[in-house]
Amino acid sequence: MQTGLFISFEGIDGAGKSSHIQAVADALRLSGRHVVHTREPGGTPLAEKIRDVLLHDAMDPMTEALLVFAARRDHLQQVIEPALARGDVVLCDRFTDATFAYQGGGRGFDLQVLSQLEQWVQTMSDGHLRQPHLTLWFSLEPHIAAQRLASARVPDRFESQPLVFFQQVHQAYAERAKAEPARFATIQAAADFNDVRASVLTQLEQRGYVSARPL
Ligand code: TYD
Repeated sequence: MQTGLFISFEGIDGAGKSSHIQAVADALRLSGRHVVHTREPGGTPLAEKIRDVLLHDAMDPMTEALLVFAARRDHLQQVIEPALARGDVVLCDRFTDATFAYQGGGRGFDLQVLSQLEQWVQTMSDGHLRQPHLTLWFSLEPHIAAQRLASARVPDRFESQPLVFFQQVHQAYAERAKAEPARFATIQAAADFNDVRASVLTQLEQRGYVSARPL
């Protein structure tokens, strides 16, 4: 049986990551892998309810952090761990780096408490700490992301934050990427769509995760 593979996709709102997850899923399936495409907050019925609350209800940063990790625990137990145990590839639209970036960088919540919560929530029954094998970080200047978002849908509680919030979120992602260069691959998301897509697929090929590209 193949070994499970866990890939997360990160970036500030408007960076365009979600548009590229489908191409990654297609390339992996063409390469013979079974793919589970999921997201955070969310990915289970319970976690999707928490997502709705997180995106729309006012709360203090501690409540926000606890809800994000509560949703994550359910998602890990119900979806991510079983999929990895089957040898599937899990593609997750955001994971814990988003918590360090948004709740830590954006809201200014204590990073040490977030690390503590990460240890509790992501330590699995066999004692290992679950982390993505690869994190694709779609890096985009916050003012460009803001322009992209302005023409999009009605903003949620995060998307409606001011530019300075996204500058802090972006900076926190940059620090995470610098601290863990083996796990992170930085995608320059200001390039045009096809170039971004090509650089995402190149990252997967370089690691031997895909052997074929979708059309
Ligand atoms: P997002 O992937 O942007 O969903 P959509 O593309 O449908 O808007 O995620 C929703 C928001 O949740 C996003 O603004 C970032 C926020 N978020 C956190 O604040 N902390 C977290 O840990 C996660 C996973 C997401």
